[in-house]
Amino acid sequence: MRIVYRVLLLILAALGLILAVVLYYTVNPKLPDYVPVEQVHYQDQWSAADRQTYYFTPQGTQVKGLHYDWFTALELPFSEQRFATPAYLARFGFLVDPKQVPTAQNPGNLPVGFARHKNADSNVEYLDITCAACHTGELHYKGQALRIDGGSAQHVLPSSVPTLRGGSFGQALVASLAATYYNPWKFERFARQVLGDRYDAEHSQLRQDFKRSFDKFLQVAWNDTHRGLYPTEEGPGRTDAFGRIANASFGDAITPDNYRVANAPVDYPQLWDIWTFDWVQWNGSAQQPMARNIGEALGVGATLTFFDDAGQPLQGDARYPSSVRVRDLNLIEETLQRLKPPTWPEELFGAIDKPLAAQGRALFAENCAGCHVPGVSQEGGRPVQHLKMLPVDYIGTDPNTASNIADQRYDLSALQWDPVELTRLNVQLHPAPTEPLDLKKMSVAKGLAYVTAFVEDHAYRAAGVTPTERPRLDGYGLPIGVRELRAYKARPLAGVWATPPFLHNGSVPTIYQLLSPQDERSVTFYKGTFNYDPRHLGFETDAFKNAFLFDTKITGNHNSGHEFRAGERGNGVIGRGLLPQERWALLEYLKVLGGPLEQQLP
Ligand code: HEC
Ligand code: HEC
Repeated sequence: MRIVYRVLLLILAALGLILAVVLYYTVNPKLPDYVPVEQVHYQDQWSAADRQTYYFTPQGTQVKGLHYDWFTALELPFSEQRFATPAYLARFGFLVDPKQVPTAQNPGNLPVGFARHKNADSNVEYLDITCAACHTGELHYKGQALRIDGGSAQHVLPSSVPTLRGGSFGQALVASLAATYYNPWKFERFARQVLGDRYDAEHSQLRQDFKRSFDKFLQVAWNDTHRGLYPTEEGPGRTDAFGRIANASFGDAITPDNYRVANAPVDYPQLWDIWTFDWVQWNGSAQQPMARNIGEALGVGATLTFFDDAGQPLQGDARYPSSVRVRDLNLIEETLQRLKPPTWPEELFGAIDKPLAAQGRALFAENCAGCHVPGVSQEGGRPVQHLKMLPVDYIGTDPNTASNIADQRYDLSALQWDPVELTRLNVQLHPAPTEPLDLKKMSVAKGLAYVTAFVEDHAYRAAGVTPTERPRLDGYGLPIGVRELRAYKARPLAGVWATPPFLHNGSVPTIYQLLSPQDERSVTFYKGTFNYDPRHLGFETDAFKNAFLFDTKITGNHNSGHEFRAGERGNGVIGRGLLPQERWALLEYLKVLGGPLEQQLP
């Protein structure tokens, strides 16, 4: 008996200790400090109006039903300080400008990409995380910031799995939601702020609605944690996009049997010139812009309804209502067609050594152009770049994301699709299947293609999109093409110096390291800083307070492949060894590649 009692006591003490640690880090989450820069420098990548359109046009995501005015009224768990201040949100890696003030497009004075929308059928304004939140970057140097529109984000937005040290956005947000719900004084202040003179009439309704959203956050955090869905910690600047979209669309929305471990976090790719690519995504799996954007929106929190109130699968034209905003998605997509790559700012990062860059140009032609300079043709009113796809076995970089997309299967039979009706959708499978589709064993890319095709049709009807308009909204009249290659694409490299870290999984911190053999690359390095290293072309990798330690030994994080090394080609070796001075010359050339300075080289 005494032993049982002691064991119980011990367990209780351990639980108490864990709770104390969690509470400690709820008050002091392990986040980098916010160091305001002197000035944010914007480039002429497009007009200032385009930039605002891109930053704040909603796409139809509603973060677990969180209202915009709730988000801006939330306080930190143990103080009256607001949660959604630029200085606090910047600590999660979201982009703010020290000079920013509330504007008509951004009344809450929130970071880049925090937009809002109302659905047609209600007056509620939701917080809407839009493209710019993930596809905008920033490089800091000597107290100055260079904003990279369409660049790679470095935030910890998607991580939903709590950690004991409390460094994730989701965890901090849930802590604030919990404190607001359970602390009556806090809720009182919150309700007065949100409701104003509607306080008396709507106070209890607000409490109910708030609880519903709060519960969704808890459910997801609990689900993702106890199922161990995301074992490879994403850290700053990454998310397992396909894994998360599949778990949301096929797991949450259809059956828990469809949850799959997602251990392949990827970097946020840069978006200039993507409208000219024949195929997009790291593994070149998607073709049509609208379907790609709808799929992404579903993964980031747009609503999607598969079943009616009685739990029966929706049929025919009832398939599938969602909150995606096709006209806004099209506006963003067309705005992106005007986005130019960033140009190396000599006044901030130092002058270009033109003779050295000219040597780099020759080395580039010899060692890189075969993969990174695609053939171009003119098709459907746009220049199309035909990107080279390199099999994983050959390029040798981390296989997880390509393999997961190629191998994982999901049971979508509950949706009761009729094979004949699927053939009428605008989906094009590559290669064309020789056997009937097995709805019990659908890949994420195929499943998502059909889901987005239904969602697209439904959303177009709801938005009154005419057949004549349709090709433009789809994007150059492209079908919803699907490929599942075990391969990664070699993208054109204009402006690549501005998009660290490198490779699809962000496992190599600088371009200098990428051009060096694997044994000269960092096995572990620190992430979460915006401090740029203009010499090696990447982020600084040294330790700093509350940095994220990136470990390339973990599955999904491998920094192998894309190696220049003597020996046989293949298995990750893609070129001859490069002498250090050759690497420097290549770096110098990459700074100007595709920009105005390239024309000035000797
Ligand atoms: C939550 C973060 C997030 C948001 C929001 C987001 N994306 Fe992405 N996007 C990603 C990630 C991650 C990838 C890479 C996925 C992959 O290939 O595995 C990606 C890939 C892409 C690609 C392919 C690029 C390439 O090099 O192949 C395009 C194009 C794109 N996104 C456009 C958009 C647009 C347009 C929006 C808004 C309508 C958007 N994204 C919203 C995270 C995001
Ligand atoms: C055999 C084809 C091939 C050759 C040759 C090649 N690359 Fe690559 N490169 C790729 C592929 C494929 C990727 C994407 C791999 C991944 O993300 O896993 C890539 C990725 C990159 C990236 C990272 C892009 C990003 O957004 O993270 C850079 C930078 C790069 N290559 C530079 C070079 C340079 C410089 C050379 C010449 C010295 C070169 N590459 C030669 C195929 C090649």
